[in-house]
Amino acid sequence: MSWVHEAKIKAAEKVVEHIKDDMVIGIGSGTTAAEGIRIIGEKIRNGELRGIRAVPTSYQAIQEAVKAQIPLTTLDEFPVLDFGFDGADQIDQELNAIKGGGGALLREKIVASCCKEYVLVADQTKVTDVLGRDQPVYLEVHPMAVAPVSRKLRNMGAKPDIRQAVGKLGPVVTDNGNNLIDADFGPIHNPGYLNARLHSVQGVMETGLFIGYCKIAYVGTQNGVKTLTRF
Ligand code: A5P
Repeated sequence: MSWVHEAKIKAAEKVVEHIKDDMVIGIGSGTTAAEGIRIIGEKIRNGELRGIRAVPTSYQAIQEAVKAQIPLTTLDEFPVLDFGFDGADQIDQELNAIKGGGGALLREKIVASCCKEYVLVADQTKVTDVLGRDQPVYLEVHPMAVAPVSRKLRNMGAKPDIRQAVGKLGPVVTDNGNNLIDADFGPIHNPGYLNARLHSVQGVMETGLFIGYCKIAYVGTQNGVKTLTRF
């Protein structure tokens, strides 16, 4: 197993320590969150955790939860969640993040916004001093608006790329029937401002800039787990 994979597991083990009996939790998407889902399932099956219900952030998270035998629920039943965790593509020192590498950013952000406590889990390669360095911002875009949004992104100084599917011809279609634009802005010194500007572009359904949701992040390294905090 690579050190990166081991680091993801170590971070996932740490985040699961937050989960107590009878909590309703948001479960994230991607390979790191999947390790957390797997561990929660093990704890449920061996009786260490009881009464857990989970709201998934993607079709992938549903599949992982079903495999782990974690009971699922919805935001209709529980509009406020006790806890949530998710992976990230990039995390800065303020614990702002870029997410959406797996195309799940819209549901991920809805779930993040409903959690009383929200923790990110990642390996060390995801930590940066400035968001956007060697990392595009992922945008979920209504199919009708892909061309005009791309044009507006270029006017904002970004290099937009319409994400193409693998194993299917044409663009990626998200769990919500939208497309994805990966927009390279270079280093982003005011991610909150950029997020607000992107939200003002009609057709952008959601951005992968996760600003101010996370106060704790667990980062797996070659030697252990680092805890990053923001107060
Ligand atoms: C899914 O859309 C993403 O936001 C993931 O959470 C992110 O890409 C991290 O994935 P990994 O844990 O697989 O790196």
